Amino acid sequence: MKRTTYAGLVDESFVGKDVVLKGWVQKRRDLGALIFISLRDREGIVQLVFSEEFSVDALAVADQMRSEYVVEIQGTVKARDAKTINADMKTGKIEVEVHNAKILAEAKTTPFDIEDEISVSDELRLKYRYLDLRRPVMQRNILMRSKITKATHDFLDEEGFVDIETPYLAKSTPEGARDYLVPSRVYPGSFYALPQSPQLFKQLLMGAGFDRYYQVARAFRDEDLRGDRQPEFTQLDVEMSFMDQDEIRELVGRWVARIMQDAAGVTVDPAAFPVLEWAEAMERFGTDKPDLRIAYELVDLNELAAKSEFGVFSSTVANGGAVKGITVPGGAEHYSRKDLDKYTQYIERFGAKGIAWVKVTEEGFNGPVAKFLNAQFAEITAAMDAKVGDLLLFVAAKADVVAGSLDYLRRDTAKTLGLIDESKWGFAWIINWPLFEHQEEEDRWIAAHHPFTMPNEEDLHFFNEGEDPHQAHAQSYDLVLNGYELGSGSIRIHTMDIQEKMLKALGFTAESAHEAFGFLLDAMEFGFPPLGGIALGLDRLAMILAGQDNIREVIAFPKNSKASEPMTEAPQPVSKQQIEVDLGLKAPVYAENDQPNMAEE
Ligand code: AMO
Ligand code: AMP
Repeated sequence: MKRTTYAGLVDESFVGKDVVLKGWVQKRRDLGALIFISLRDREGIVQLVFSEEFSVDALAVADQMRSEYVVEIQGTVKARDAKTINADMKTGKIEVEVHNAKILAEAKTTPFDIEDEISVSDELRLKYRYLDLRRPVMQRNILMRSKITKATHDFLDEEGFVDIETPYLAKSTPEGARDYLVPSRVYPGSFYALPQSPQLFKQLLMGAGFDRYYQVARAFRDEDLRGDRQPEFTQLDVEMSFMDQDEIRELVGRWVARIMQDAAGVTVDPAAFPVLEWAEAMERFGTDKPDLRIAYELVDLNELAAKSEFGVFSSTVANGGAVKGITVPGGAEHYSRKDLDKYTQYIERFGAKGIAWVKVTEEGFNGPVAKFLNAQFAEITAAMDAKVGDLLLFVAAKADVVAGSLDYLRRDTAKTLGLIDESKWGFAWIINWPLFEHQEEEDRWIAAHHPFTMPNEEDLHFFNEGEDPHQAHAQSYDLVLNGYELGSGSIRIHTMDIQEKMLKALGFTAESAHEAFGFLLDAMEFGFPPLGGIALGLDRLAMILAGQDNIREVIAFPKNSKASEPMTEAPQPVSKQQIEVDLGLKAPVYAENDQPNMAEE
């Protein structure tokens, strides 16, 4: 029997037709002379009806069927009675009367049910990932991911981009995370690094004259995992020659809009994506990846705080710190003193010593510090656009501590109170980033993006003798969606004079620069085009479009939060033979099965 269509696609248009379907038994309802089976495949679920009336043999086979058996059936599609129509199902208006049935494979009882809502640990889901992936929600997520890459291939091909692969066995790229290393057998003691991104290679491809490159590229970074971070993830990576940043953002906007349309049926207007200066984003939202679906912003209160009767405020300003606040609309009723104590505890991680909070009432402010702030009731409520019933949260500290704390409080209060406008897609471009970032622990300057990011034209003078290059800003741009950094890119340096100055400002010597990426510096001396690009995080985009909050939900075989893979149990110790003999390395740990002669015993 040859399959004629997917179970999940059988609808009213098939009524009266004969179909052959193959798939998994979702559920069996046995009424004796009548058996109902829901048959599941990639596209959905359809109801099968077995009865003596249609076929005694098929009924006998159905009697043997159990959940997750793989079966094939042949039957006729019938419209359901009005009473039995299921409006929630795509196939709910029809059922299939089965004439022939065969069991193709039996199945043990699965460790969890194959349905959208299950309450089992992530560990168990990952151990039986092939079963977890059978769940309809996971099938939808993975299919949607495939549509995103399809839209990417289609759009970039139409725009003249060339799909080019770059090496996975490579040399370390300076993206700032720890490398995954692969030992070389041929050169014992030497290692390849798995690429943290194709950055250097894509620049070289522009030098080679391909003009427009793209790749759906795996990137590897050994860093601590979070909901939106995996040790290996996929970049939708592009690079272009002879384009300025406005042209690149315009093209990338149309690309993202095409993905949204093709993969999720969502129409967005990329010309309307807000473009924010980095400094403005930090000022208004306390973060470089603001969620613009939340209406309230950080309010600068330094001027009022300087004159405040509240010592914490006035002394913070006097000591060069910042005082800012947010107005949580209608938050007064929802938050108890205990909730706010929890917030205070939480924001210690950003370095904040406390939160000052008041609730706005007809009679003035209410709360532990109300007595100090009431003198400025009119000014504060005006500055913060606060109304009766609102909750005001203030943090006084160093500017970056205030930013980190209030960014968190803004997002968390909005989430808790349902104040995120879910009908919107919160796209934003963040431009004009600082070129350098100061690393507190090591007291040194690092490239905010990477060492090849082009400074702003008007900032080049900062590299002159006697000026401070760390003041310079960059021709770089991030694309933000719903509070996530979706992509990050820049115009690159393409001439040696600027590149040398940049490397010097980063503390490279001529020798150390040549050792790290001499090949790129050499290439720049053979006629390099002006160039720029971006990489979008495929996993993050798929996660957001699928309405999930962890990228694991859109990756077929992800790592768990400890960077291991519970199904295959990677990583694993390897044998002494592999380490010492094949690779010429000395290792302290050997696999247990590495005992000599164990097989013979
Ligand atoms: P960047 O390091 O910002 O830029 O990475 C680009 C995008 O990749 C995604 N991303 C991740 N996704 C999942 N897990 C991770 N651990 C992870 N790390 C990053 C993010 C991010 O915006 N070569 C430059 C790009 C360029 O300049 O063209 C680069 O790699 O969505
Ligand atoms: P204290 O003087 O430490 O008892 O704090 C008095 C009030 O000010 C308490 O409600 C604290 O939560 C709040 N508070 C303390 N430090 C800060 C700060 N840095 N910013 C905002 N509020 C603070």
